[in-house]
Amino acid sequence: MTISRSPVTFRLLTEHDLPLLHDWLNRPHIAEWWGGERPTLAEVRAHYHPQAMAAERVTPYIAMQGDVPIGYAQSYVAMGSGDGWWEDVTDPGVRGIDQSLADAALLGQGLGTQMVRALVERLFRDPAVTSIQTDPAPHNLRAIRCYQKAGFRAVRRIVTPDGPALYMLQDRPA
Ligand SMILES: CC(C)(COP(=O)(O)OP(=O)(O)OC[C@H]1O[C@@H](n2cnc3c(N)ncnc32)[C@H](O)[C@@H]1OP(=O)(O)O)[C@@H](O)C(=O)NCCC(=O)NCCS
Repeated sequence: MTISRSPVTFRLLTEHDLPLLHDWLNRPHIAEWWGGERPTLAEVRAHYHPQAMAAERVTPYIAMQGDVPIGYAQSYVAMGSGDGWWEDVTDPGVRGIDQSLADAALLGQGLGTQMVRALVERLFRDPAVTSIQTDPAPHNLRAIRCYQKAGFRAVRRIVTPDGPALYMLQDRPA
């Protein structure tokens, strides 16, 4: 099934979005796959503040459909992430992405694929970006299928500082 409503766009997250993000990250369908924790508002303010994220070379976004915020997404520069993350990545053009839809009632209807495709397209607008990676949990079959539909291929199983993951990649289109 595919939802065909307005296109998904992105705006940069601001500090005013942090209470909304706190609400979303505490929803069971997101908490299950997003670090497995239910963060407090103070934790969300500390971790997801745009300045804190910029220091880690992570860009946080609110995904929008028209004027409705529908999800959270982030992209990051993989090389040099530190703390044990992406130590094998030597290409400065590799970006990584993570995302979740806010409304549990909309899962499994094609909206996530639309969102991921739109984010990939946005990132490839930067000519410095060579490929885009993502790292769902190996048993998050819904996310894996969504990423496949959005153009990612499964490369290999890896172990990240957050645990086992499926490393998925897509290269800049020729
Ligand atoms: C991951 C996420 C963004 C994907 O968005 P979505 O709108 O649900 O995904 P889509 O509907 O576009 O695609 C999901 C696909 O997985 C399939 N699917 C759903 N549940 C599944 C399951 N348990 N096993 C296998 N496939 C499953 C769907 O049928 C669909 O495939 P199809 O179109 O071939 O039928 C969304 O599900 C989400 O936010 N999940 C909760 C948080 C999360 O997991 N975030 C990602 C962390 S890596």
